[in-house]
Amino acid sequence: MLVFGTRPEAIKMAPVVKQLEKEPDLTPIVVVTGQHREMLQQVLDAFQLQPDYDLKIMHQNQTLTMITNKVLAGLDEILNQEKPALLLVHGDTTTTMAASLSAFYHHVPIGHVEAGLRTWNLAAPFPEEANRQLTDDLTTLYFAPTPPSRENLLKENHPAKQIFVTGNTAIDALHYTVNQDYHHEILSKIPDDHHIILLTMHRRENQGAPMEEVFKAVRDVASQRSQIDVVYPVHLSPRVQEVAHRIFDGAANVHLINPLDVLDFHNLAARSYFIMTDSGGVQEEAPSLNKPVLVLRDATERPEGVTAGTLKVVGTDYQRVKAAMEELLNDPQEYKQMAEAKNPYGDGHAAERIGQICHDYLTK
Ligand code: UD1
Ligand code: UDP
Repeated sequence: MLVFGTRPEAIKMAPVVKQLEKEPDLTPIVVVTGQHREMLQQVLDAFQLQPDYDLKIMHQNQTLTMITNKVLAGLDEILNQEKPALLLVHGDTTTTMAASLSAFYHHVPIGHVEAGLRTWNLAAPFPEEANRQLTDDLTTLYFAPTPPSRENLLKENHPAKQIFVTGNTAIDALHYTVNQDYHHEILSKIPDDHHIILLTMHRRENQGAPMEEVFKAVRDVASQRSQIDVVYPVHLSPRVQEVAHRIFDGAANVHLINPLDVLDFHNLAARSYFIMTDSGGVQEEAPSLNKPVLVLRDATERPEGVTAGTLKVVGTDYQRVKAAMEELLNDPQEYKQMAEAKNPYGDGHAAERIGQICHDYLTK
Protein backbone atom coordinates (compact mmCIF):
# COMPACT_ATOMS: atom_id res chain seq x y z
CA MET A 1 0.00 0.00 0.00
CA LEU A 2 1.28 3.46 -0.92
CA VAL A 3 -0.11 6.41 1.06
CA PHE A 4 0.41 10.04 0.08
CA GLY A 5 -1.55 13.27 0.25
CA THR A 6 0.24 16.37 -1.05
CA ARG A 7 1.61 17.52 -4.41
CA PRO A 8 5.31 16.76 -3.78
CA GLU A 9 4.64 13.31 -2.31
CA ALA A 10 2.50 12.43 -5.32
CA ILE A 11 5.14 13.60 -7.82
CA LYS A 12 7.85 11.55 -6.15
CA MET A 13 5.66 8.49 -5.47
CA ALA A 14 4.24 8.36 -9.02
CA PRO A 15 7.36 6.65 -10.43
CA VAL A 16 7.21 4.13 -7.55
CA VAL A 17 3.54 3.32 -8.26
CA LYS A 18 4.36 2.83 -11.95
CA GLN A 19 7.26 0.56 -11.07
CA LEU A 20 5.28 -1.57 -8.58
CA GLU A 21 2.54 -2.01 -11.18
CA LYS A 22 5.15 -3.78 -13.32
CA GLU A 23 6.17 -6.24 -10.55
CA PRO A 24 4.27 -9.49 -11.34
CA ASP A 25 4.14 -10.75 -7.73
CA LEU A 26 2.97 -7.51 -6.13
CA THR A 27 -0.39 -5.69 -6.04
CA PRO A 28 -0.01 -2.01 -5.23
CA ILE A 29 -2.93 -0.29 -3.49
CA VAL A 30 -2.86 3.51 -3.76
CA VAL A 31 -4.40 5.51 -0.92
CA VAL A 32 -4.48 9.29 -1.13
CA THR A 33 -5.37 11.22 2.00
CA GLY A 34 -6.34 14.31 0.01
CA GLN A 35 -4.36 16.59 2.37
CA HIS A 36 -4.14 18.66 -0.82
CA ARG A 37 -7.12 18.70 -3.20
CA GLU A 38 -6.60 20.60 -6.48
CA MET A 39 -2.79 20.47 -6.27
CA LEU A 40 -2.90 16.70 -5.72
CA GLN A 41 -5.40 16.15 -8.52
CA GLN A 42 -3.07 17.96 -10.95
CA VAL A 43 -0.40 15.34 -10.28
CA LEU A 44 -2.77 12.37 -10.42
CA ASP A 45 -3.97 13.59 -13.81
CA ALA A 46 -0.46 14.23 -15.14
CA PHE A 47 0.73 10.72 -14.24
CA GLN A 48 -2.66 9.09 -14.93
CA LEU A 49 -2.87 7.60 -11.44
CA GLN A 50 -6.19 6.25 -10.18
CA PRO A 51 -6.20 5.96 -6.37
CA ASP A 52 -7.99 2.99 -4.85
CA TYR A 53 -9.00 5.10 -1.84
CA ASP A 54 -9.30 8.85 -1.25
CA LEU A 55 -9.79 10.05 2.32
CA LYS A 56 -10.66 13.58 1.05
CA ILE A 57 -9.51 15.26 4.25
CA MET A 58 -8.60 18.76 3.00
CA HIS A 59 -10.16 21.73 4.74
CA GLN A 60 -9.51 25.47 4.19
CA ASN A 61 -6.67 26.62 6.46
CA GLN A 62 -6.45 23.18 8.05
CA THR A 63 -4.42 22.76 11.23
CA LEU A 64 -1.80 20.08 11.80
CA THR A 65 -4.06 18.44 14.39
CA MET A 66 -6.95 18.27 11.91
CA ILE A 67 -4.76 16.57 9.31
CA THR A 68 -3.32 14.09 11.84
CA ASN A 69 -6.73 13.17 13.30
CA LYS A 70 -8.37 12.63 9.94
CA VAL A 71 -5.53 10.54 8.49
CA LEU A 72 -5.44 8.29 11.56
CA ALA A 73 -9.21 7.79 11.55
CA GLY A 74 -9.46 7.25 7.78
CA LEU A 75 -6.59 4.79 7.51
CA ASP A 76 -7.74 2.72 10.46
CA GLU A 77 -10.67 1.31 8.49
CA ILE A 78 -8.67 0.78 5.30
CA LEU A 79 -5.84 -1.02 7.06
CA ASN A 80 -8.33 -3.28 8.86
CA GLN A 81 -9.88 -4.17 5.54
CA GLU A 82 -6.83 -4.48 3.25
CA LYS A 83 -4.20 -5.76 5.71
CA PRO A 84 -1.27 -4.76 3.43
CA ALA A 85 2.08 -6.57 3.69
CA LEU A 86 4.02 -3.29 3.48
CA LEU A 87 3.06 0.38 3.62
CA LEU A 88 5.12 2.95 1.71
CA VAL A 89 5.20 6.62 2.66
CA HIS A 90 7.23 9.49 1.28
CA GLY A 91 9.17 12.36 2.80
CA ASP A 92 8.05 14.49 5.68
CA THR A 93 4.48 15.73 5.52
CA THR A 94 1.86 15.28 8.21
CA THR A 95 0.20 12.69 5.95
CA THR A 96 3.52 10.78 6.03
CA MET A 97 3.87 10.90 9.81
CA ALA A 98 0.23 10.03 10.55
CA ALA A 99 0.14 7.20 7.98
CA SER A 100 3.30 5.77 9.53
CA LEU A 101 1.78 5.89 13.01
CA SER A 102 -1.33 4.19 11.70
CA ALA A 103 0.72 1.42 10.03
CA PHE A 104 2.68 0.95 13.26
CA TYR A 105 -0.53 0.54 15.26
CA HIS A 106 -1.64 -2.11 12.75
CA HIS A 107 1.71 -3.99 12.84
CA VAL A 108 2.28 -3.21 9.15
CA PRO A 109 5.98 -2.68 8.25
CA ILE A 110 6.83 0.70 6.76
CA GLY A 111 9.03 1.59 3.78
CA HIS A 112 10.10 5.24 3.86
CA VAL A 113 10.93 6.75 0.48
CA GLU A 114 13.29 9.76 0.89
CA ALA A 115 14.38 8.67 4.37
CA GLY A 116 17.18 10.30 6.34
CA LEU A 117 16.94 13.98 5.39
CA ARG A 118 17.75 16.15 8.40
CA THR A 119 18.35 19.72 9.50
CA TRP A 120 18.54 18.56 13.15
CA ASN A 121 16.44 21.60 14.00
CA LEU A 122 12.85 20.83 14.94
CA ALA A 123 11.82 24.42 14.20
CA ALA A 124 13.01 24.44 10.57
CA PRO A 125 11.36 23.21 8.56
CA PHE A 126 8.33 23.02 10.86
CA PRO A 127 6.75 20.52 11.29
CA GLU A 128 8.59 18.51 8.61
CA GLU A 129 11.78 17.85 10.58
CA ALA A 130 9.73 16.18 13.33
CA ASN A 131 7.63 14.33 10.77
CA ARG A 132 10.66 12.75 9.13
CA GLN A 133 12.38 11.85 12.41
CA LEU A 134 9.19 10.28 13.81
CA THR A 135 8.61 8.36 10.58
CA ASP A 136 12.17 7.03 10.57
CA ASP A 137 11.72 5.81 14.16
CA LEU A 138 8.92 3.54 12.91
CA THR A 139 10.42 2.46 9.56
CA THR A 140 11.63 -1.00 8.48
CA LEU A 141 12.95 -0.25 4.94
CA TYR A 142 14.82 3.04 4.56
CA PHE A 143 15.12 4.35 1.00
CA ALA A 144 17.79 7.02 1.44
CA PRO A 145 18.19 9.20 -1.66
CA THR A 146 21.91 9.93 -1.15
CA PRO A 147 24.91 8.71 0.91
CA PRO A 148 24.67 11.71 3.33
CA SER A 149 21.05 10.79 4.14
CA ARG A 150 22.23 7.22 4.84
CA GLU A 151 24.87 8.65 7.20
CA ASN A 152 22.19 10.61 9.06
CA LEU A 153 20.22 7.40 9.62
CA LEU A 154 23.31 5.57 10.85
CA LYS A 155 24.01 8.40 13.33
CA GLU A 156 20.57 7.71 14.79
CA ASN A 157 21.42 3.99 15.09
CA HIS A 158 19.00 2.75 12.46
CA PRO A 159 20.21 -0.70 11.27
CA ALA A 160 22.64 -0.48 8.33
CA LYS A 161 21.22 -3.58 6.61
CA GLN A 162 17.80 -1.95 6.36
CA ILE A 163 19.11 1.23 4.69
CA PHE A 164 19.35 1.41 0.87
CA VAL A 165 20.78 4.33 -1.14
CA THR A 166 18.45 4.55 -4.13
CA GLY A 167 18.71 8.09 -5.58
CA ASN A 168 15.78 10.47 -5.44
CA THR A 169 12.61 9.58 -7.34
CA ALA A 170 12.21 13.30 -8.21
CA ILE A 171 14.80 12.69 -10.93
CA ASP A 172 12.80 9.69 -12.23
CA ALA A 173 9.72 11.96 -12.42
CA LEU A 174 11.58 14.49 -14.59
CA HIS A 175 12.02 11.79 -17.23
CA TYR A 176 8.24 11.63 -17.60
CA THR A 177 7.71 15.37 -17.88
CA VAL A 178 10.42 17.44 -19.58
CA ASN A 179 9.75 17.98 -23.26
CA GLN A 180 11.77 20.01 -25.79
CA ASP A 181 8.68 21.24 -27.71
CA TYR A 182 7.01 22.64 -24.64
CA HIS A 183 4.94 25.82 -24.80
CA HIS A 184 2.78 27.59 -22.21
CA GLU A 185 0.70 30.74 -22.58
CA ILE A 186 2.85 32.54 -20.00
CA LEU A 187 5.80 32.20 -22.40
CA SER A 188 3.89 34.12 -25.11
CA LYS A 189 3.80 37.12 -22.76
CA ILE A 190 7.56 37.10 -22.18
CA PRO A 191 9.99 38.18 -24.94
CA ASP A 192 12.58 35.52 -25.87
CA ASP A 193 15.53 37.66 -24.78
CA HIS A 194 14.19 38.16 -21.23
CA HIS A 195 15.46 36.14 -18.29
CA ILE A 196 12.72 34.21 -16.47
CA ILE A 197 13.10 33.93 -12.71
CA LEU A 198 10.86 31.18 -11.36
CA LEU A 199 9.70 31.74 -7.77
CA THR A 200 7.87 29.44 -5.34
CA MET A 201 7.39 29.96 -1.62
CA HIS A 202 4.99 28.31 0.79
CA ARG A 203 6.55 26.93 3.98
CA ARG A 204 4.71 27.43 7.28
CA GLU A 205 7.76 28.90 9.06
CA ASN A 206 8.15 31.49 6.26
CA GLN A 207 4.53 32.65 6.29
CA GLY A 208 4.09 36.25 7.45
CA ALA A 209 7.14 38.55 7.85
CA PRO A 210 9.85 36.37 6.18
CA MET A 211 7.68 35.96 3.07
CA GLU A 212 7.00 39.71 2.95
CA GLU A 213 10.73 40.52 3.08
CA VAL A 214 11.52 38.13 0.23
CA PHE A 215 8.64 39.35 -1.93
CA LYS A 216 9.66 43.00 -1.43
CA ALA A 217 13.23 42.18 -2.46
CA VAL A 218 12.00 40.37 -5.59
CA ARG A 219 9.58 43.19 -6.44
CA ASP A 220 12.32 45.84 -6.04
CA VAL A 221 14.90 44.00 -8.15
CA ALA A 222 12.27 43.33 -10.84
CA SER A 223 11.20 46.99 -10.90
CA GLN A 224 14.76 48.08 -11.69
CA ARG A 225 15.25 45.67 -14.60
CA SER A 226 13.05 45.57 -17.65
CA GLN A 227 14.84 42.48 -19.07
CA ILE A 228 13.65 40.04 -16.42
CA ASP A 229 10.27 38.46 -15.74
CA VAL A 230 9.43 36.77 -12.46
CA VAL A 231 6.92 33.92 -12.76
CA TYR A 232 5.35 32.85 -9.47
CA PRO A 233 2.80 30.00 -9.40
CA VAL A 234 1.25 30.82 -6.04
CA HIS A 235 0.47 27.97 -3.63
CA LEU A 236 -3.27 27.78 -2.87
CA SER A 237 -2.82 28.29 0.88
CA PRO A 238 -4.78 31.45 1.80
CA ARG A 239 -1.88 32.44 4.07
CA VAL A 240 0.41 32.56 1.03
CA GLN A 241 -2.09 34.03 -1.43
CA GLU A 242 -2.77 37.06 0.76
CA VAL A 243 0.88 38.18 1.08
CA ALA A 244 1.70 37.43 -2.57
CA HIS A 245 -1.15 39.57 -3.91
CA ARG A 246 -0.58 42.38 -1.40
CA ILE A 247 3.08 42.80 -2.37
CA PHE A 248 3.09 41.89 -6.08
CA ASP A 249 -0.21 43.16 -7.46
CA GLY A 250 0.64 46.03 -9.80
CA ALA A 251 4.26 44.91 -10.41
CA ALA A 252 4.44 44.84 -14.22
CA ASN A 253 7.07 42.12 -14.70
CA VAL A 254 5.98 39.82 -11.85
CA HIS A 255 3.42 37.27 -13.06
CA LEU A 256 1.31 35.62 -10.35
CA ILE A 257 -0.31 32.49 -11.76
CA ASN A 258 -2.16 29.46 -10.40
CA PRO A 259 -0.15 26.40 -9.33
CA LEU A 260 1.09 24.76 -12.48
CA ASP A 261 0.56 21.13 -13.22
CA VAL A 262 3.79 19.23 -12.92
CA LEU A 263 4.40 19.03 -16.68
CA ASP A 264 4.13 22.79 -16.92
CA PHE A 265 6.22 23.43 -13.84
CA HIS A 266 9.10 21.18 -14.87
CA ASN A 267 9.16 22.61 -18.38
CA LEU A 268 8.97 26.19 -17.18
CA ALA A 269 11.79 25.44 -14.73
CA ALA A 270 13.78 24.11 -17.67
CA ARG A 271 13.17 27.41 -19.52
CA SER A 272 13.98 29.66 -16.55
CA TYR A 273 17.26 31.52 -15.93
CA PHE A 274 17.33 30.76 -12.22
CA ILE A 275 14.96 29.64 -9.49
CA MET A 276 14.11 31.10 -6.08
CA THR A 277 12.32 28.72 -3.72
CA ASP A 278 11.73 27.42 -0.21
CA SER A 279 10.43 24.15 -1.67
CA GLY A 280 12.18 20.88 -0.94
CA GLY A 281 11.38 19.11 -4.20
CA VAL A 282 12.41 22.04 -6.39
CA GLN A 283 15.89 22.00 -4.78
CA GLU A 284 16.28 18.43 -5.98
CA GLU A 285 15.00 18.99 -9.50
CA ALA A 286 16.89 22.17 -10.41
CA PRO A 287 20.40 20.64 -10.54
CA SER A 288 19.17 18.13 -13.15
CA LEU A 289 17.91 21.05 -15.20
CA ASN A 290 21.18 23.01 -14.75
CA LYS A 291 19.48 25.88 -12.97
CA PRO A 292 20.99 27.82 -10.06
CA VAL A 293 18.71 27.98 -7.01
CA LEU A 294 18.50 30.64 -4.31
CA VAL A 295 17.08 28.78 -1.31
CA LEU A 296 14.72 31.03 0.67
CA ARG A 297 15.31 29.36 4.03
CA ASP A 298 17.83 29.56 6.85
CA ALA A 299 18.68 25.86 6.68
CA THR A 300 18.30 23.08 4.15
CA GLU A 301 18.04 19.32 4.60
CA ARG A 302 19.46 19.05 1.08
CA PRO A 303 23.16 19.88 1.73
CA GLU A 304 24.24 17.77 -1.26
CA GLY A 305 23.05 20.53 -3.59
CA VAL A 306 24.93 23.18 -1.61
CA THR A 307 28.14 21.11 -1.70
CA ALA A 308 27.71 20.49 -5.42
CA GLY A 309 27.37 24.28 -5.89
CA THR A 310 23.92 24.44 -7.45
CA LEU A 311 22.06 25.69 -4.33
CA LYS A 312 22.80 28.82 -2.34
CA VAL A 313 21.04 29.18 1.02
CA VAL A 314 20.15 32.88 1.27
CA GLY A 315 17.44 32.95 3.96
CA THR A 316 14.69 35.55 3.95
CA ASP A 317 16.38 38.84 4.83
CA TYR A 318 15.52 41.65 2.35
CA GLN A 319 19.12 42.81 1.76
CA ARG A 320 20.54 39.30 1.45
CA VAL A 321 17.91 38.17 -1.02
CA LYS A 322 18.35 41.30 -3.13
CA ALA A 323 22.14 40.95 -3.12
CA ALA A 324 21.96 37.27 -4.11
CA MET A 325 19.63 38.04 -7.03
CA GLU A 326 21.86 40.87 -8.21
CA GLU A 327 24.96 38.69 -8.02
CA LEU A 328 23.38 36.05 -10.25
CA LEU A 329 22.13 38.68 -12.69
CA ASN A 330 25.44 40.61 -12.82
CA ASP A 331 28.13 37.95 -12.52
CA PRO A 332 28.24 35.47 -15.44
CA GLN A 333 31.06 33.48 -13.82
CA GLU A 334 29.08 32.93 -10.62
CA TYR A 335 26.03 32.01 -12.71
CA LYS A 336 27.97 29.49 -14.79
CA GLN A 337 29.48 27.78 -11.75
CA MET A 338 26.07 27.25 -10.18
CA ALA A 339 24.38 26.21 -13.42
CA GLU A 340 27.02 23.66 -14.34
CA ALA A 341 27.29 21.91 -10.96
CA LYS A 342 26.78 18.15 -11.03
CA ASN A 343 23.37 16.79 -9.99
CA PRO A 344 23.83 14.84 -6.74
CA TYR A 345 20.34 13.29 -6.56
CA GLY A 346 20.76 10.19 -8.66
CA ASP A 347 20.40 8.78 -12.15
CA GLY A 348 16.62 8.65 -12.52
CA HIS A 349 16.37 4.92 -11.72
CA ALA A 350 15.49 5.20 -8.02
CA ALA A 351 12.01 3.71 -8.43
CA GLU A 352 13.43 0.57 -10.06
CA ARG A 353 15.72 0.03 -7.06
CA ILE A 354 12.88 0.64 -4.62
CA GLY A 355 10.64 -1.79 -6.53
CA GLN A 356 13.32 -4.49 -6.46
CA ILE A 357 13.95 -4.07 -2.72
CA CYS A 358 10.19 -4.23 -1.96
CA HIS A 359 9.91 -7.30 -4.14
CA ASP A 360 12.80 -9.05 -2.37
CA TYR A 361 11.48 -8.11 1.07
CA LEU A 362 7.97 -9.37 0.32
CA THR A 363 8.78 -12.55 -1.58
CA LYS A 364 11.73 -13.99 0.36
C1 UD1 B 1 2.03 20.77 2.99
C2 UD1 B 1 3.08 20.04 3.82
C3 UD1 B 1 4.46 20.55 3.45
C4 UD1 B 1 4.70 20.48 1.96
C5 UD1 B 1 3.57 21.18 1.22
C6 UD1 B 1 3.73 20.98 -0.26
C7 UD1 B 1 2.51 19.43 6.13
C8 UD1 B 1 2.39 19.88 7.52
N1 UD1 B 1 2.87 20.36 5.23
O1 UD1 B 1 2.07 22.15 3.36
O2 UD1 B 1 5.43 19.75 4.12
O3 UD1 B 1 5.92 21.13 1.69
O4 UD1 B 1 2.32 20.60 1.62
O5 UD1 B 1 3.01 21.91 -1.00
O6 UD1 B 1 2.26 18.29 5.83
N2 UD1 B 1 -4.88 24.23 -0.30
C9 UD1 B 1 -5.89 24.23 -1.24
N3 UD1 B 1 -5.82 23.33 -2.26
C10 UD1 B 1 -4.79 22.45 -2.40
C11 UD1 B 1 -3.77 22.46 -1.45
C12 UD1 B 1 -3.82 23.34 -0.39
O7 UD1 B 1 -6.82 25.01 -1.16
O8 UD1 B 1 -4.79 21.66 -3.36
C13 UD1 B 1 -4.96 25.19 0.83
C14 UD1 B 1 -6.01 24.78 1.89
O9 UD1 B 1 -6.63 25.92 2.40
C15 UD1 B 1 -5.12 24.13 2.98
C16 UD1 B 1 -3.89 25.02 2.89
O10 UD1 B 1 -3.70 25.24 1.49
O11 UD1 B 1 -5.73 24.14 4.26
C17 UD1 B 1 -2.63 24.44 3.49
O12 UD1 B 1 -2.42 23.11 3.07
P1 UD1 B 1 -1.53 22.11 4.00
O13 UD1 B 1 -1.40 20.78 3.33
O14 UD1 B 1 -2.05 22.13 5.41
O15 UD1 B 1 -0.15 22.85 4.10
P2 UD1 B 1 0.92 23.17 2.98
O16 UD1 B 1 1.46 24.52 3.30
O17 UD1 B 1 0.36 22.90 1.65
N1 UDP C 1 5.45 22.04 -8.54
C1 UDP C 1 4.38 21.94 -9.43
N2 UDP C 1 3.67 23.07 -9.71
C2 UDP C 1 3.94 24.28 -9.14
C3 UDP C 1 5.01 24.35 -8.20
C4 UDP C 1 5.74 23.20 -7.92
O1 UDP C 1 4.11 20.88 -9.97
O2 UDP C 1 3.27 25.26 -9.44
C5 UDP C 1 6.20 20.80 -8.22
C6 UDP C 1 7.70 20.88 -8.24
O3 UDP C 1 8.22 20.55 -9.51
C7 UDP C 1 8.13 19.87 -7.19
C8 UDP C 1 6.97 19.87 -6.21
O4 UDP C 1 5.88 20.47 -6.88
O5 UDP C 1 8.19 18.56 -7.75
C9 UDP C 1 7.33 20.65 -4.99
O6 UDP C 1 6.19 20.81 -4.23
P1 UDP C 1 6.09 21.89 -3.08
O7 UDP C 1 7.04 22.99 -3.33
O8 UDP C 1 4.65 22.20 -2.93
O9 UDP C 1 6.50 21.04 -1.79
P2 UDP C 1 7.89 20.68 -1.08
O10 UDP C 1 8.76 20.01 -2.06
O11 UDP C 1 8.42 21.94 -0.53
O12 UDP C 1 7.46 19.76 0.02
